[in-house]
Amino acid sequence: MTSTQPQPQPQPPGYAFDNDNGHAGEQHRALTAGYDGLSVGRLAGLGLRDGLRCLEVGAGGGSVARWLAARVAPTGSVLATDIKPHHIAPAEGLEVAVHDITRDPLPECAFDVIHARLVLLHLPERLQVLERLVRALRPGGRIQLDDFDETTYGPLIPLGGLRGGDAAEVYATYIAAKQRLLEAAGVDLTWGRSMAAAMEQAGLTDIDTEPHVQSWRCHSPGTALQIHNTHHLRTRFLAVGVTDEDLRAARRVMSHPHFLAASCLMYSAQGRRPY
Ligand SMILES: C[S@@+](CC[C@H](N)C(=O)[O-])C[C@H]1O[C@@H](n2cnc3c(N)ncnc32)[C@H](O)[C@@H]1O
Repeated sequence: MTSTQPQPQPQPPGYAFDNDNGHAGEQHRALTAGYDGLSVGRLAGLGLRDGLRCLEVGAGGGSVARWLAARVAPTGSVLATDIKPHHIAPAEGLEVAVHDITRDPLPECAFDVIHARLVLLHLPERLQVLERLVRALRPGGRIQLDDFDETTYGPLIPLGGLRGGDAAEVYATYIAAKQRLLEAAGVDLTWGRSMAAAMEQAGLTDIDTEPHVQSWRCHSPGTALQIHNTHHLRTRFLAVGVTDEDLRAARRVMSHPHFLAASCLMYSAQGRRPY
């Protein structure tokens, strides 16, 4: 009998996900449910008000950009950019642009607040992008970057029906494979914890960085995001030696009612462009 399993193909480096993928909607919903509370809670502390001009880079599903627009419209506005921005629903005060932050023109001294979540992590040019973002801020303007430290996943916590060793190994194998594939795609796994120093280097002041951890249970948004990864990144998983059976096993563990693990850390770092 011929196998239906496709042969693993080397994957080109570059952004590992794709907003054209049929699973991108799940990704944006899980990110919104899991991390908007953190992102907007921190942004709220920046004193947003009517009239400010904001930039949301790599806006994805657009939930944070819409939240910002609701705070700064009608006299202010938000520019939401993405290489593939078609998931962003329109809103008052929101402009949407197809824009690659690594190379497309960006106005200088133009924005009071810039936010990017889970974008710079993916970009090999992240330090140059950060410098561009600093130049795009008005003097006194604030930037917030929210990004994972992909080295900090907690192991499975043995509990109830997942007390045996197999489940812990399946989950550990899945996390290790995901780290390998992200690295192959150009992700800096430690970026979350390195951001604050990079922001200082880029000339920002008043740096404030906060690490956040979540409990991931079977129906948590973070777990939904991981399960989504097994579908969205399937071709890349196969390219690093993972099989469809491995992915099914990882999904079984993460969907188990007793699944519990500490998330990786999400760092939220803020800085100010000096006057
Ligand atoms: C992991 S998603 C995060 C989406 C959103 N920021 C969030 O946290 O919900 C990364 C987003 O960045 C976009 N992106 C990737 N490379 C980009 C680039 N070079 N310039 C602008 N956007 C980019 C992707 O298309 C995707 O929408």
